[in-house]
Amino acid sequence: MTFHATILTLYPEMFPGPLAHSLAGRALERGDWTLEARQIREFGRGRHRAVDDTPAGGGAGMVMRADVVADAIDAAISDTDTRPRLMMSPRGRPLTQDFVRDLAVGDGALILCGRFEGVDERVIEARSLMEVSIGDYVLSGGEMAALTLLDAVVRLLPGVMGNQQSGTHESFEGGLLEHPHYTRPAEWEGRSIPPVLTSGDHGAIVRWRRDEAEHITKERRPDLLKDRERR
Ligand code: ADE
Repeated sequence: MTFHATILTLYPEMFPGPLAHSLAGRALERGDWTLEARQIREFGRGRHRAVDDTPAGGGAGMVMRADVVADAIDAAISDTDTRPRLMMSPRGRPLTQDFVRDLAVGDGALILCGRFEGVDERVIEARSLMEVSIGDYVLSGGEMAALTLLDAVVRLLPGVMGNQQSGTHESFEGGLLEHPHYTRPAEWEGRSIPPVLTSGDHGAIVRWRRDEAEHITKERRPDLLKDRERR
């Protein structure tokens, strides 16, 4: 099964952008996943292909029109398209590694990138868009958020990570932040590597890494430990 990403945006030239490089880029070239960025403005209204209008009730900024966005969505999907329909938005459900993993075992996603002050609420409801946030800060549009989501998903697709043992011990796997890493030189600026890592005792190394991961998580992200207890 190939992962198909369809992006609806006013800035299709922002894709694949950084995803043309590194692991994701090579996987894209191989056809391990596909990316289609579609221009919402093609469905704009009038001579100027307007995609937005002033907010009902007044106020600053502009709102993306429901009819325009719906036409763009309907043109991008078929009746048999079961992919999740996402809309990048700071109001959305927080993006987590669990959600990323769910997406990576699916057949792709349709991703609407909002711009302006928002998107008419009626099209979010009528097309069952799930709003997704990449964090508690406001970007100027959903494009960078969509690129972030795709990067996180694509690296989990079969074959993409190559020999990097598909990230079994990376941050958030097992609900913990990652343990510290070291490499040569053994001594650098008067700092040495924790002796257990060069002891050759694999049991001790595994225990040390798990303890360090728990310690760092407790210190930096106690909220993750609470999530873990609830599982
Ligand atoms: N669009 C603007 N800010 C965003 C955020 N934090 N997450 C997702 N989409 C956004």
